[in-house]
Amino acid sequence: MQAAYYEATGAAREVLRVGELADPAPGPGEVRVRVHASGVNPSDVKSRAGLRSRQMPFARVTPHSDGAGVIDRVGAGVDAARLGERVWLWNAAWGRPGGTAAQYVALPARQAVRLPDAVSFEAGACLGIPALTALRAVQGWGGVAGRTVLVQGGAGAVGHYALQFARRLGAATLLASVSSADKAAVARAAGADECIDYRREDIVARARQLSGGRGVDRVIEVDAAANGARAAELLAPQGELVVYGSGAANFSLPVFPMLANNLSLHAFIVYHLPDAVRAACEAMLAAALADGTLQHRIAATLPLARIAEAHELVESGAAVGNVVVTLE
Ligand SMILES: NC(=O)c1ccc[n+]([C@@H]2O[C@H](COP(=O)([O-])OP(=O)(O)OC[C@H]3O[C@@H](n4cnc5c(N)ncnc54)[C@H](OP(=O)(O)O)[C@@H]3O)[C@@H](O)[C@H]2O)c1
Repeated sequence: MQAAYYEATGAAREVLRVGELADPAPGPGEVRVRVHASGVNPSDVKSRAGLRSRQMPFARVTPHSDGAGVIDRVGAGVDAARLGERVWLWNAAWGRPGGTAAQYVALPARQAVRLPDAVSFEAGACLGIPALTALRAVQGWGGVAGRTVLVQGGAGAVGHYALQFARRLGAATLLASVSSADKAAVARAAGADECIDYRREDIVARARQLSGGRGVDRVIEVDAAANGARAAELLAPQGELVVYGSGAANFSLPVFPMLANNLSLHAFIVYHLPDAVRAACEAMLAAALADGTLQHRIAATLPLARIAEAHELVESGAAVGNVVVTLE
């Protein structure tokens, strides 16, 4: 099969190769998927760059945890009725050497979830990390029904889905922070009532004004290191800071306003969702996919041969939405 891989961490153009690798076979409890689209996430790019660890976790890694395709073989113990099923994939490259940047991937059957016919493979390749992260940030810890929510980075891959899920799950007032008028338009189309340009406006003053002086009930945070320190000023009493991303390793919070206002902090990584949480999120996602109202924002689609460009595009931060690699 044609596959992308790297055998050392480093710059995309230096370490990513595309070539012929052996077709995988599904083991017991696994399915093999003919991949049509492979999603590129910041996490895949950071792993390949060696930002998590310069050490290779395996001698050779085919990148990308997200993808979508069709089941073409099943291993022992898997219902043969799944043959031919369209699926989206999760955690394909998390703790595993074989990700979705390949014509075939074999992985545990539960990591291949039915994809409705009306949803494209490209959209299916955006679900495992961006959509599930957004759902968790919105539905967790009591959800957002009737509440005022601020989604930081509302035009980002996760932020764009977070706005849509917050709206679907009944947020009363939905705010987004953005850095340009174009990104504000993207966030509004996803359901934001108001956008705050966090580079040019005082985000705390604007968020307080837009929430009738109370502050917001939940901040969904893309960059804790940049924004976390002001969370206590943004949040209303009993408010929650839900962190899924950070541009740096550390951030600080002022303890006394946190105590005085009963504020809480939740942080999570989508790779390690508890089984029951993952099942709940998958069910909500299935409902959203079935009614056809979920918007997917695919910023760029590149063939496998141009995977290094796809990684560079994600690294640059210039893509407004997901970057997807397609497989012939
Ligand atoms: N915990 C998890 O499981 C999990 C899952 C998915 C992603 N992540 C992490 O979350 C981050 C975002 O991922 P993504 O795929 O959504 O990336 P993305 O598509 O590049 O989106 C990031 C968005 O945040 C905006 N942004 C950047 N810095 C900001 C700041 N200081 N304040 C407000 N907005 C800011 C960016 O636009 P501007 O730069 O124009 O503002 C962009 O719209 C990455 O660090 C990723 O590794 C974590």
